[in-house]
Amino acid sequence: MKIGVIGLGYIGLPTAIMFASSGHQVVGLEIREDVVRKINSGKAHIIEPEINERLKAVIAEERFYATTRPEDLRGVNVFIVCVQTPLVDDKPDLSYVENAIRTIAEVMDRGALVVIESTVPPGTTVKMARLLETLSGMREGIDFYVAHAPERVMPGRIFRELVYNSRIIGGVSHKSAILAERLYRSFVKGEIYITDATTAEMVKLMENTFRDVNIALANEFAYLAQQYGVNVFEAIKLANTHPRVNIHVPGIGVGGHCLPKDPYLLLSNAKKEFGLIRLARRINEGMPKIALALLFEAFEQLNIDLATSIVTILGLAYKGDTDDTRNSPALKLRELLEGKVLEVRTYDPYIRGTHNSLEDAVKGSDAIIIATDHREFKNLDWDKIGKLMRTKVLIDGRGIIDRPPRGFLFKGIGRGDV
Ligand SMILES: NC(=O)c1ccc[n+]([C@@H]2O[C@H](COP(=O)([O-])OP(=O)(O)OC[C@H]3O[C@@H](n4cnc5c(N)ncnc54)[C@H](O)[C@@H]3O)[C@@H](O)[C@H]2O)c1
Repeated sequence: MKIGVIGLGYIGLPTAIMFASSGHQVVGLEIREDVVRKINSGKAHIIEPEINERLKAVIAEERFYATTRPEDLRGVNVFIVCVQTPLVDDKPDLSYVENAIRTIAEVMDRGALVVIESTVPPGTTVKMARLLETLSGMREGIDFYVAHAPERVMPGRIFRELVYNSRIIGGVSHKSAILAERLYRSFVKGEIYITDATTAEMVKLMENTFRDVNIALANEFAYLAQQYGVNVFEAIKLANTHPRVNIHVPGIGVGGHCLPKDPYLLLSNAKKEFGLIRLARRINEGMPKIALALLFEAFEQLNIDLATSIVTILGLAYKGDTDDTRNSPALKLRELLEGKVLEVRTYDPYIRGTHNSLEDAVKGSDAIIIATDHREFKNLDWDKIGKLMRTKVLIDGRGIIDRPPRGFLFKGIGRGDV
């Protein structure tokens, strides 16, 4: 097959490489010239294990190149759309998908298959198929084929998960789904389940919404546990011994590219809703404020003047052991603190631009807030850290401190037991 991948970001570039190394001829269309230049020089612009070696290999075999010129997509049999679908004011911006479809309409031949991998609101793939029909004068299911193949990979494990994850593929027509399934079989070893396009869109969004709502429920439990004098992490561990219960992990918030966005995508084309999903979003978005309330409580107990205080945030990434700060609750926390305290410091061993060392970041500080569950933060020498601080307040936003360190005023999300 000659495949055109549109949008060479976190999803598009690994997907293009995967198709190229499975024997297809792949052209990657990307609007950012700097990205195209870098990719063609054999260097990925995203951080992902194995990506540079794999990219160099497919370039050397002349199976893949990147371009900014839509004309280079002429003669392509399969188009894969991997552009971003961001939120603007809590509403999906589908202009990138629509622009990609308009580009495809200009170069598409009869018999082409168009796959939308981008996460989109229910109904979008069908709408895009209709737009292609209008623009091309051809008919979906007869002259060309459109399917949705949502992506489930997790950054950091993309090349493994592309192969072994199971996939849902939904066709606008049944034949489209069958053609897309055949295509993904070139490298997918997991199950492939076939359905219609709108169901596939909904499945993808339901998966992430389930996780977001479950975390919000865990956060509500944490808030209650704080009031009942209970350690919510112990309570959840015990509740999860029930064979049909799986409560997620509470904490300072939900970040990353997908979870904070996908519930809004799920709601965006609905006329009516019950409100649960939106409430869960609001709970998770509000968690940095809960951590802040714990800090203020501690400062009041110790008579610390907020305006002259120094606060150190440990971790800026949205989750442990990565450098990804997209929608990170730690950034929100920093924003909330700025202007209220004398100085906000951040230390994240994975992220440049934060303090160079933990010692530097805590020296003379009045409080530490743990915002990311990096491995490095799990076994810190609190005696040593305490000696460097001006006042010893520790707020655990991630439930990584089992026993409060001696000499600290300790508070944590979900830690009513201290
Ligand atoms: N990143 C993830 O972990 C992940 C996981 C599952 C699903 N998704 C979904 O996949 C989609 C892509 O996500 P991503 O993280 O790869 O986004 P990204 O922002 O990293 O990449 C999108 C790329 O598309 C390019 N682009 C935009 N419009 C274009 C056009 N008309 N022609 C050519 N290039 C164009 C952009 O310049 C950008 O480089 C989103 O819908 C996202 O929700 C992402």
